[in-house]
Amino acid sequence: MTLKHTDSSRFSDVVARLRRFASLSSRQKTQLLLNRAERRLGAGRLRSGPRMLDLVPTHRCNLRCVGCVHYDNEGPGDLELGFFREILAESAPWVVQYRFCSLGEPLMNRDLPEMLELAARAGIGCNLMTNGTLLTPELAEHLVARCKIDILTFSIDGATAETCERLRRGLKFDDLMEAVTSVVESKRRHGAGRPVVQANAIAMKDNADELPDLVRLAARLGIEDLNVHYLTVEGRTQWENSLFSDPDRQKEIFDEMKRVGDELGVVTHLPPDVRDAEFMQRCYLPWDTLIIDTDGTARMCYFSWEEPVGNVVEDGGIRAVWNNALYRKVRETIETDCPFYRYCAHCGYRVGYSRREAHEGKSGDNEKIFSFDWDRPDAPPRPGGSRLRNPDRRDN
Ligand SMILES: C[S@@+](CC[C@H](N)C(=O)[O-])C[C@H]1O[C@@H](n2cnc3c(N)ncnc32)[C@H](O)[C@@H]1O
Ligand code: SF4
Ligand code: SF4
Repeated sequence: MTLKHTDSSRFSDVVARLRRFASLSSRQKTQLLLNRAERRLGAGRLRSGPRMLDLVPTHRCNLRCVGCVHYDNEGPGDLELGFFREILAESAPWVVQYRFCSLGEPLMNRDLPEMLELAARAGIGCNLMTNGTLLTPELAEHLVARCKIDILTFSIDGATAETCERLRRGLKFDDLMEAVTSVVESKRRHGAGRPVVQANAIAMKDNADELPDLVRLAARLGIEDLNVHYLTVEGRTQWENSLFSDPDRQKEIFDEMKRVGDELGVVTHLPPDVRDAEFMQRCYLPWDTLIIDTDGTARMCYFSWEEPVGNVVEDGGIRAVWNNALYRKVRETIETDCPFYRYCAHCGYRVGYSRREAHEGKSGDNEKIFSFDWDRPDAPPRPGGSRLRNPDRRDN
């Protein structure tokens, strides 16, 4: 099959990436260039390590957002400082960035500010995503002055207190506004270009009409980028809230967001329209990122949560998992008609959102597409066997 790839880069993204590259150490630059070359070639075994490690700080959360499937998970405990130091010791020679996003609220882990500072001292940039509820002015000052945060993302799903508090249950809108403001002011005080302050919004029928106003709110607050994602539907109950079934409204709202963003200087990162059936781009995640859970379980992306690729504690470290037979098979097959991880054939990152499956998270009737294709003749050995089960599932 010939794939028609779409180049979704924007000029501002390219400039930001060049600036970021210039600020890296020569060792990081070498690793990154090697990594980029290997991913362009589609190599299965990589000499470079992951550019980014996505470290799960906790599974706990203090909110109960309507779209979120994570908050009632019973995952393993928080990321421990000792384990973080081990990850840092192994990855410091080659990693460029850590991301703390989590399956709960990262700042629920009280050691996170110290981890961020340790990463900064080792010259590693960090991305942090937060619901903003625990980000005090003192912590904002710590993050700006002592940590090397590249991107700080606040999840904001509406432009008004009424909508945000309805969708993000437990949130006090004023606290969130204060958290964003304290980071932006701290940056101004220090004359700091970093962190880039971003917002992350889920686009759904429930908040669609407010999204252009969210761009205006972002501009007022000093938020530089607004990332928008479609609602991932897990379970049938939320389909009625998905914009998948209302392409006219989706297009109208996104066009308006882009217009307002261009006018006010907020960069809007919007997913492709749900009618765009031609969209196709390469997914580089298996060459770029490894997610490490609090117990060392390693995964390639959030859509493959139930199918770990290994465990960095038990399988000989990060680089051993990164190049194990399973991960190599994922890389070697992702661009074919039959990816070894089946969901890659349906994933919105690769094929856009014109198909229902791209909006779906795993739920009863689509179970099969969220699994590796273990029955095929070229299947690699399963790493870790039954040990590698999803710690979030109660039926393990
Ligand atoms: C799971 S949260 C973890 C970080 C932090 N607790 C927060 O809310 O920013 C990461 C992001 O996933 C988004 N998210 C949660 N449920 C989602 C869903 N069903 N579809 C799309 N995005 C979702 C959240 O809005 C948030 O921006
Ligand atoms: S704050 Fe984040 S993790 Fe917590 S419920 Fe909301 S989206 Fe989920
Ligand atoms: S499921 Fe999607 S995000 Fe994950 S590796 Fe496949 S294409 Fe990439």
